[in-house]
Amino acid sequence: MHDMQIRRLSPTDAILYRELRLEALRLAPDAFSSTFAVENAEPLTWFADRLERSAVFGAFGGEELQGIAAFLARPGQKEAHKGVLVGMYVRPDVRNAGIGRRLAEAVIEHARREVEILQLSVVAGNEPARRLYTSLGFVEYGLEKNALKVNGCYWDEVLMAKPLVPVDRIGPP
Ligand SMILES: CC(C)(COP(=O)(O)OP(=O)(O)OC[C@H]1O[C@@H](n2cnc3c(N)ncnc32)[C@H](O)[C@@H]1OP(=O)(O)O)[C@@H](O)C(=O)NCCC(=O)NCCS
Repeated sequence: MHDMQIRRLSPTDAILYRELRLEALRLAPDAFSSTFAVENAEPLTWFADRLERSAVFGAFGGEELQGIAAFLARPGQKEAHKGVLVGMYVRPDVRNAGIGRRLAEAVIEHARREVEILQLSVVAGNEPARRLYTSLGFVEYGLEKNALKVNGCYWDEVLMAKPLVPVDRIGPP
């Protein structure tokens, strides 16, 4: 897809970001730990603050925001070498065209300058996302049973990580 631009979002993108983030929570509620009800109640400034504080990347087809993915640094000195890929979403009508891959690659590239390990968690049944992450070099290192509870149903999450420096520099497992 050659007319697709990937760039980091800034607080001035808050309106577009809010709209796509709420669509993600509404249409793919099982893929995220947050909920539509919680974030829909937040003002626009809350979304602008998130864009100010964390690195959120957007995929644009022309003026339209078609996908998002974000990098979060782990808080705390002892976990500062780790970051997390979160909030990955691509509009259903433009999926399977490599946008998710390019967004994840943008997060990985950013993470290389910040941390040594990039982690993520993905609901066990989410095969498209798991395949995509595996093809990008993420390796499964665990399974969190009953990680999410939604309307009385439990969902397991697969934990994945990608080393961003040579593994022998990270230290013994
Ligand atoms: C997971 C998700 C972000 C993937 O986005 P996407 O843009 O469809 O991802 P990509 O197109 O980069 O890759 C998906 C598949 O398309 C394939 N693909 C990539 N480029 C392609 C192209 N030019 N033509 C055809 N297929 C292509 C990829 O190889 C991959 O195939 P696979 O399923 O056999 O591995 C998207 O399905 C989504 O938003 N799902 C709902 C939310 C979600 O689950 N988020 C993840 C939470 S952890």
